[in-house]
Amino acid sequence: MKIGILTSGGDSPGMNTAVWAAARAAYSKGIEIVAIRHGYQGLMTNDIIPLTQDAAESMLNMGGTRIRTSRCKEMRTLQGRKHAVKTLKENKIDGLIVCGGDGSFRGAEKLSNLGIATIGIPGTIDNDLAYTDYTIGFDTACNNIVENVMKIRDTMRSHNRIGIVEVMGRNCGDLALLAGMASGADYVLVPEKQGEFKSKYNIDEVFRHVKETWYSGKHYAIIIIAEGVGKDNNDRAYNLRKLLEAKIDEHNKMLMDTEESPELIVTEVRETVLGYLQRGGSPTVQDRRLATESAIKAVELLEAGETNRVVGIRENKIIHMDTDEALSIVKEFDDILLSHVNSLLTSR
Ligand code: F6P
Repeated sequence: MKIGILTSGGDSPGMNTAVWAAARAAYSKGIEIVAIRHGYQGLMTNDIIPLTQDAAESMLNMGGTRIRTSRCKEMRTLQGRKHAVKTLKENKIDGLIVCGGDGSFRGAEKLSNLGIATIGIPGTIDNDLAYTDYTIGFDTACNNIVENVMKIRDTMRSHNRIGIVEVMGRNCGDLALLAGMASGADYVLVPEKQGEFKSKYNIDEVFRHVKETWYSGKHYAIIIIAEGVGKDNNDRAYNLRKLLEAKIDEHNKMLMDTEESPELIVTEVRETVLGYLQRGGSPTVQDRRLATESAIKAVELLEAGETNRVVGIRENKIIHMDTDEALSIVKEFDDILLSHVNSLLTSR
């Protein structure tokens, strides 16, 4: 038996661990394993390399994906997918492990319909796949965010400033929520709640928190905004800063007009877009565990003749299910955790 592995979509810490673990599992079963470079694109260009034990060993620790990744346009067409199947057959590859997110899994499902055995393992920092409690890379990205927010907090506190931090996650607020909770953010904005905002970027609530933070004597605050909020606009952190500055000015003006010795909010607002800092770096133990167990399960499933399945983790147990069934599950947002995070100060 000969299997292939590829990583697809946005890279995530732990993808290399998954490749390493798949290679180890394959060797131990006497299965030949190759790596398809640059995701599905490697099937268009026949970019396939042997995965030697030595090459695999050197990957375990590394962030990103050493076998490279891409978002392959050709896989969206039947012609492109037929080409992918032809490449796999010419290379005598019987089964394919795809480490990526929902788009990558849809690609794998279509290859399975064309007769190639495929198994997906969840590799994305976004944690936006409902069938699994966690995705490979999410934990590392959360830790990266926390580490950076703590540094931003140091300098915001020193100047009595309000720090707005934008984090990734596409349409999912999990990175903002978990990292916001773990870094003691004063307010977290997520796309899942955007429909409930009465004002742009929920500015009234954001300002209410800033006001409470100020008058409680803390005099600085951290606000986390997920990139999925205000998706139409890439300057969301900047826009939120402008709105907040206007609110603070308006509030101070009102106080000066009505009070004799008003206690003004004397602060400045600064924004940071964390960007790719949060996606790189060596995977955490949690991501290594999920990557290792998922990859081993994927090899076992291919060996057992299974196809069109995706592997994940639920209640601390590795599970697998039909791809379409898995991708049809709608993700539930943790409203309770968000309300706890957003009310820690105000509920005093
Ligand atoms: O899907 C992972 C992710 O990091 C998202 O959080 C983000 O929206 C996107 O990828 C960024 O993609 P790119 O690498 O194309 O800029």
